[in-house]
Amino acid sequence: MHNTFSIEVIPEPCVIVIFGATGDLSRKKIMPSICSLFTNHLLHKNSTVVACGRSDHTAQSFRESVASHIPGCVCHKEKNCFLKKISYVRTNADDSRSFRNLSEHLKQMGSSDFPLNHLYYLAIPPSSFQPTVEAMCQAGLMHEAEGGSWRHLVIEKPFGEDLKSSLALDIFLHERIDEHQVFRIDHYLAKETVQNILITRFANRIFETIWDRRAIDHISIKTSETAGLEGRTAYFDRSGLLRDMFQNHLMEILMLIAMEPPRSFEASAIHKAKLELINAIRPYNPESIGTEIIRAQYTAGNGMPGYREEEGIAADSMTESFVRMKMLIDNERWQGVPFYIQAGKRMATLDSEISIVFKHSSYSIFSERLSKTLIPNTLVLRIRPDEGVKLTLQAKHSGPKLTIGNLHCDAVYDEQSDNPDAPDAYARLLLDAMLHDHTLFVRSETIIESWRLFTPILQAWREYPDKYPLRFYPAGSNGPEEALHL
Ligand code: BG6
Repeated sequence: MHNTFSIEVIPEPCVIVIFGATGDLSRKKIMPSICSLFTNHLLHKNSTVVACGRSDHTAQSFRESVASHIPGCVCHKEKNCFLKKISYVRTNADDSRSFRNLSEHLKQMGSSDFPLNHLYYLAIPPSSFQPTVEAMCQAGLMHEAEGGSWRHLVIEKPFGEDLKSSLALDIFLHERIDEHQVFRIDHYLAKETVQNILITRFANRIFETIWDRRAIDHISIKTSETAGLEGRTAYFDRSGLLRDMFQNHLMEILMLIAMEPPRSFEASAIHKAKLELINAIRPYNPESIGTEIIRAQYTAGNGMPGYREEEGIAADSMTESFVRMKMLIDNERWQGVPFYIQAGKRMATLDSEISIVFKHSSYSIFSERLSKTLIPNTLVLRIRPDEGVKLTLQAKHSGPKLTIGNLHCDAVYDEQSDNPDAPDAYARLLLDAMLHDHTLFVRSETIIESWRLFTPILQAWREYPDKYPLRFYPAGSNGPEEALHL
């Protein structure tokens, strides 16, 4: 990964075209991120934004709808300058004329001497991906003339909803667009802690040598959210937590934590190492789906309604809002080391972290009594709150008696930063897509392998709900009782 936050790296002039611009993702995340690139002088002065949606808007009414989402720290003048860069075009994938209008609009923004590059962002539901891409291609929007300006396409997850649909989506895209034009987003990859996994592992000799089954007892990757459905009822109820968090974010983290050292820091070398790792994960079979995976759904608790009482959710919905699973990796480095992966919504706390728990020494020089008090060293890479790293060591309590306790060496990444205004995850990814850097994006091969792993689980849950029962936990708790025993 390169240092794109360096203020000298500014992408070429480009039009950022957002499909689904009136949706939540665009207003809450993408627009504020583009604004932060603008205020950090990381956008070329000729770059502009074209918002596309099905609703009727004028540029002015759309700007007004975005204005309230621009962070308060942006001054009035800068905010207005940014908003002036936005124009609005009504598009509908069923209406090819609307895409021809968009094409005309884009042509008018550049000139024959000065053609602009285009970055298209699909912030739309998965069911609209293919019709939108088809309409774009028919209007010639993705066409890159040799030696001319570039056309990049950023796609949000989910990339399909199982192995079959992800393969179909992949074929569809490759028939129309070149792989170098596609940027598949997983915003977890742009989180500081997630980017820091490789730095921790490969820029620190002390960890490099102990990162395997000889020294590590187990690894846990956990994300807990206090939030519930946040207005995304229809999407989530169809998707469920396994598709929403495991198939993408958590697998990406696992791959970075467990992969073999890539040959270099180049995107292709990292993708190759990740692919090898995902292929080494032990597939689940009908028995291990039952013994190594817990799925659960929240019920009413702590003043919050249960999942089935949420508006728009059926009273017999079987959608999981919590999953804990044990994974094994069949290779020399990880044989026998369990990876516990867990995510849940409506949990007691908002926290996400990766814990690497080391083994006890095989021989202790201390008395039996003292040895029993020793706690294994743990390295925690904290994703939130406060992205950072914590190493727990054993240390002598001060005083005349010999007693041993935990010493926490805790650091927050932000405090090390020489650029406190560094763009957030979405801004970082937009910047990289404009700079042709695929390192923090996901390749279709790993997505497909990930679906290969999870599709049999989803199928088993659907076909044999009695054999693989859905457990329950109260909203605002630490998850189902059964998960504690996994
Ligand atoms: C999204 C999921 O991809 O990630 C959401 O669809 C989840 O369900 C979110 O809440 C978590 O992201 P973050 O950055 O808040 O940890």
